[in-house]
Parts: sequence; structure tokens; C-alpha cells
Amino acid sequence: APKTLIAPSILSADFAQLGAECARTIEQGADWLHVDIMDGHFVPNITFGAPVVAKVRPHVEKPAQPAGRGTFDCHMMIAEPKKWVKEFKNAGCDLYCFHYEAAFSSAAESPEQTTDKKTNPKELIRYIHEQGLLAGIAIKPDTSVDVLWDILETSDPKERPDMVLVMTVYPGFGGQKFMASELPKVQELRKRYPELNIEVDGGLGPSTIDQAADAGANVIVAGSAVFGAKDPAEVISLLRRSVDT
Ligand code: DX5
Ligand code: ZN
Repeated sequence: APKTLIAPSILSADFAQLGAECARTIEQGADWLHVDIMDGHFVPNITFGAPVVAKVRPHVEKPAQPAGRGTFDCHMMIAEPKKWVKEFKNAGCDLYCFHYEAAFSSAAESPEQTTDKKTNPKELIRYIHEQGLLAGIAIKPDTSVDVLWDILETSDPKERPDMVLVMTVYPGFGGQKFMASELPKVQELRKRYPELNIEVDGGLGPSTIDQAADAGANVIVAGSAVFGAKDPAEVISLLRRSVDT
């Protein structure tokens, strides 16, 4: 099975001290930092953009290898994911995870290209890889996992995602209730792809981690559970132990 990776979501951090909060979270045992980018269009909330990521990046050591410790896992809850790849690369993003639902229209350079909807996410993945970033693809609760098979089956490794993110809440806000109804997607992905990085995001914490781990998730996002804890290091290690055992 792929390595367990704990990715605290800095959406729940103190934005006034973001650099220090990120550095501290890595010291407390986190593998990745999950960076939620929201544009007020794809989701009904706004966070921050590339200039903030660029200012925070120097506070955390760049990963020594792809997907290593200190990876900035950017969860792009934005309407035009293709448009921002270069900006986020320059800002120091390591993994660019776009939403399948947003890829349709925006991966195309012109409206005519949107007709073959299925190929567009693959083109976007290729583009992200060409920029030297890892590529992730996310699905919202209302999106069937079946949309991913064609993408994961592609024969060209440049078009294959490095990670799939299965949302366990409707994206937009931290602190929502975990949706166990989404776990069959994780199970099916794990059954078919034993080595795939499968990330879960939304409502993860000590009381929900076992279900997610049993389903086969190995990349665990947790915002309020980590940043709201008295002892974040303990929560990070509890999450890791729950997945590893
Ligand atoms: C929600 C974001 C999540 C959020 C998770 O739209 O994608 O990453 O920070 O927060 P918790 O862990 O509090 O549910
Ligand atoms: Zn997220």
C-alpha cells in the first residue's frame, strides 16, 4: 500500500501567522500541507491566491523528492484550473489538484474544444506535468467515481494523475460533518489501484479516521481536527497510527 501521508489543511490556521503556522505544523509531524484555494465561483467562499502561497513557501523547506515532506498540496477549488497552473508553480506549489467538475470548460483553449469532455481532464494533467508539478484530480460528493476510470486507464503516464481526491464534504468550508456516504468511492478506487495515492478531505479527525482508513485512503487531510486541537502533534500521530494499523 502507498505511504500514509498526513496533510493538515491550513484553512483552519491563523492566517495572520501563516508562515509560522505552516513551519510548526511540519515540525509537529505533518507530511504535507493542504492548501485550500477558493475563488468564490466554484465554491461559495474565497481564501487566498498565489501571492500568499509565494510568501509562505520560504517558511517551509521544499520537499527533497516529489511528494516528500513539506509538499504544498494545493486543492484548487476554482472555476478555471488551467489558467492558474503557472502562477502556482512559480509560487512554489508542488502538487496541483484540480476539480474534475471544473476541468470541462477550462482545460480547453476555445469553446469548440469542450465537445470531447472526457479528454480535457487528461490534457490538463499533461499540462500540469509539463510544468513540473504533480497532478491531482478531485471529485465532489455529487460526482460519480465512474468519471475517473477513463482518466486512470490512460496509457500515457503524462496524462495519469498522481493522486485522486475524494471529497467527504461539499467543498467550501472547514469544520463540516464527515460524509461516510462517499467512502464506497475510495473502496472502489483502492480495489482497482493498490498503489494510487487516494486523498480524503472534509470532516476527518479522530472519530472518522478509522472508516476512511478501512476504505483505503492513504492521504489524510484534516483542518479543524488538527488546528483546533490542544495538542496538534498528538492528533497528527493518532491519524497516522490509525491508517498504519
Ligand atoms: C473544504 C476544504 C477542506 C477543509 C477541511 O472545502 O477542502 O480542506 O479545510 O476542513 P475540516 O478538516 O475541518 O473538515
Ligand atoms: Zn481541501
